[in-house]
Amino acid sequence: MAKPKLSFSCSACGAVTNKWSGRCDGCGDWNTISEDAPLSAGPSTASLGNIKGRSIELTDLHTEEAPPPRTTSGLAELDRVLGGGLVPASAILVGGDPGIGKSTLLLQAAARFAQSGLKTLYVSGEEASAQVRMRAQRLGLTDAPVKLAAETNLRDILTTLDQEKPGLAIIDSIQTMWSDNVGSAPGSVSQVRAAAHELTNFAKRKGIAVILVGHVTKDGQIAGPRVVEHMVDTVLYFEGERGHQFRVLRAVKNRFGPADEIGVFEMTGKGLAEVLNPSALFLSERGEPSAGSVVFAGIEGTRPVLTELQALVAPSPHSQPRRTVVGWDSGRLAMILAVLEARCGIPFTGLDVYLNVAGGMKISEPAADLAVAAALLSAREDAALPADTVVFGEISLSGALRAVGQTENRLKEAQKLGFTSAIAPKGGKAPGVSGIKLNKIGDLTGFVGDVFGAG
Ligand code: TYD
Ligand code: MG
Repeated sequence: MAKPKLSFSCSACGAVTNKWSGRCDGCGDWNTISEDAPLSAGPSTASLGNIKGRSIELTDLHTEEAPPPRTTSGLAELDRVLGGGLVPASAILVGGDPGIGKSTLLLQAAARFAQSGLKTLYVSGEEASAQVRMRAQRLGLTDAPVKLAAETNLRDILTTLDQEKPGLAIIDSIQTMWSDNVGSAPGSVSQVRAAAHELTNFAKRKGIAVILVGHVTKDGQIAGPRVVEHMVDTVLYFEGERGHQFRVLRAVKNRFGPADEIGVFEMTGKGLAEVLNPSALFLSERGEPSAGSVVFAGIEGTRPVLTELQALVAPSPHSQPRRTVVGWDSGRLAMILAVLEARCGIPFTGLDVYLNVAGGMKISEPAADLAVAAALLSAREDAALPADTVVFGEISLSGALRAVGQTENRLKEAQKLGFTSAIAPKGGKAPGVSGIKLNKIGDLTGFVGDVFGAG
């Protein structure tokens, strides 16, 4: 019998090779190559076209399709991120740093789903059942009709799921699952991939929704590869700064709802509490108006969220000044510094620049550009912006300001939280909102002149 051909693949870029090496030729990453499980040998022939398959049923686009029935958990923040509740037979991946609160969130979700009548099974591969029960006790969930198991053997888990036929199975975590079909150790790329593949296929076939927990590696990828992200219907990330109590559940992919939707939670002694008004929470620790602090009126998914941006600009003792960013893109910061210098003649050479999004939020909207520029200028000039002002707008490389979407929603949220004025780009349709004075500005130079009386 011929020896099965070995194949190796890179967990970062997915490149496939026939020998192991320390560094991937495809993407140049180190230590990402590992052995794949051999594929079962099918009928081998030069071309697939030579063997007849069965013919596939074709349908039209206009076929009436009812929207999927959804089960809501009653945790509004979770339901919204899922796109309005859990879709039967869907596969969901919940990623996040170890210790961020994934198991806590999913145990709470399991309890809620079970209480709303969905048969729910929670399989922990990381903790003993007693440990999970202890956590449930702490969270006050012992009465919830959740079925619990501590197991890592995938074959046994699938057999049990087939017998029990739950509506939802939670697998905590995919890295601990182990399939006896695959030769490599649990946690290896091929094991994770095989386990995720088996579970998602099984879910589709049997009509069971599965939620897979995945730990994220240092560089922010769900360990054991992006391949898992492609297999599932929905990818949620649970993020937050370890020292902060806020946690954000973010949909980065959703076949059944909008991506970029967020749910906000607060980690308390009794588990995760929903935060129904995140703006109020993110701004709650804002003190007196101070230089470098600016409130950004942003949109997260379908919802407006106000956050505080903080900048600090100080003479640098280093020959290469520092640029440190938390919660925003550092490339984008460099761009705004360059535009300020080139278009407004305001240099930051010789100055250290620090930028922080308060509360541990991460912002990715370009609409934050103007708020960042405002924070940087305010810090540099040591002049505070009026405390009742929100800022938003995109900056182009020419220094012009570009209108952004959902102006009305941003202004309404600001008005709700007691702000009375807003600085925004000219142009675009911007219906005013009563109670908010809208200061419309055409370009960055105009902004510097208007707000800081220089330029
Ligand atoms: P956990 O859900 O175990 O994290 P993960 O599954 O993502 O690894 O959460 C661990 C942290 O949450 C732990 O440091 C303690 C904290 N925690 C609370 O603050 N309050 C609680 O009620 C619970 C259950 C955990
Ligand atoms: Mg856990």
